[in-house]
Amino acid sequence: MLVLGLETSCDETAAAVVGPGDRVCGNVVASQADLHGRYGGVVPELASRRHLERLLPVIDLALEEAGVDWEAVEGLAVTCGPGLAGALAVGVAAAKALALCRGLPLVGINHLEGHLFAVALDGGPPPEASLALIVSGAHTDLVWVEAPHRYTVLGRTRDDAAGEAFDKVARAMGLGYPGGPALDRLGREGDPAAVPLPVPMAGRRQGGYDFSFSGIKTAALRALAAAPARTPRFDADLAASLQRVVAASLIGAVARAALELRPRALLLVGGVAANSVLRARMAAEAARLDLPLRTPAPAWCTDNAAMIAAAGRSRLALGERAGPDLGAWADLPLEGWQAPVRKEGA
Ligand code: KG4
Ligand code: ZN
Repeated sequence: MLVLGLETSCDETAAAVVGPGDRVCGNVVASQADLHGRYGGVVPELASRRHLERLLPVIDLALEEAGVDWEAVEGLAVTCGPGLAGALAVGVAAAKALALCRGLPLVGINHLEGHLFAVALDGGPPPEASLALIVSGAHTDLVWVEAPHRYTVLGRTRDDAAGEAFDKVARAMGLGYPGGPALDRLGREGDPAAVPLPVPMAGRRQGGYDFSFSGIKTAALRALAAAPARTPRFDADLAASLQRVVAASLIGAVARAALELRPRALLLVGGVAANSVLRARMAAEAARLDLPLRTPAPAWCTDNAAMIAAAGRSRLALGERAGPDLGAWADLPLEGWQAPVRKEGA
């Protein structure tokens, strides 16, 4: 089934065409980083308006890149949450209108499930009985994947998400928005042991798997404020040290959960999964645990619509259909979530 996916949950206006075998035929991501950069973070109202202007041209480009016209499209998938309410509403309203006027089946996709399905773009859906770390700008979730579409959230951040901590420290360092990629580049020249920062494991004390990143963020901001001089060397050391402790905290929880739950595979997804330090350390941990690691190519880690289309292909194949009551839910939970669906023929 050839599916057009749409993603507008935050500051990327994205459309992608994904076909049999989850092969990506066309993929367009229009970043709004230029628009929000000058404010140091995403301005929700501006994001919604930019989605409204860009979404239809982005869809046209994705179809053009795929070399297909509307007649070839067999289904639609759209992110319906979690995310910025107004931004989501633009994508959902457009998807419902297109489904109606083109007579196409539509499914709503949870953005976090979309991140999990990014692994499908490089070879097969999220495997059964796997342990997934979803790390993005807004979420840090450790998830048990019973099977595709059946998830249990084992732990989540109690305060900032990992990406949020990166973005806030990077902003204070004057690295622009989003700061994660800039910290990644900068840290390559730095010493990861140079700046002492705590490695919090919020859930450990209670035997759970929750995370906490606000303490790391505050410690990094304090180290920045206390630096006698801002040299390129110091900035590189701080970037490297911050990435080391964030990765150590994330991987500590993954390792404990893996020993307890004995998954068949580890998954590392979400925008922060593009981070080179986290990828390398997670690969080393997977090897130590003797588990296969599935992590998408960096371009599929950050927000895109191909992952939404892949999740959509799977749900459409199961007969799910969203009705006109499909909404845009800012706080949509992953666990036990099911968009309002009508089984085919019902
Ligand atoms: O999944 P995503 O694209 O959007 C959300 O769903 O939030 O994740 C965006 C987050 C931002 O915090 C960004 O700084 C971070 O992912 N990020 C990175 C890297 N690339 C993106 N963080 C660290 N290193 C990177 N290479
Ligand atoms: Zn995301």
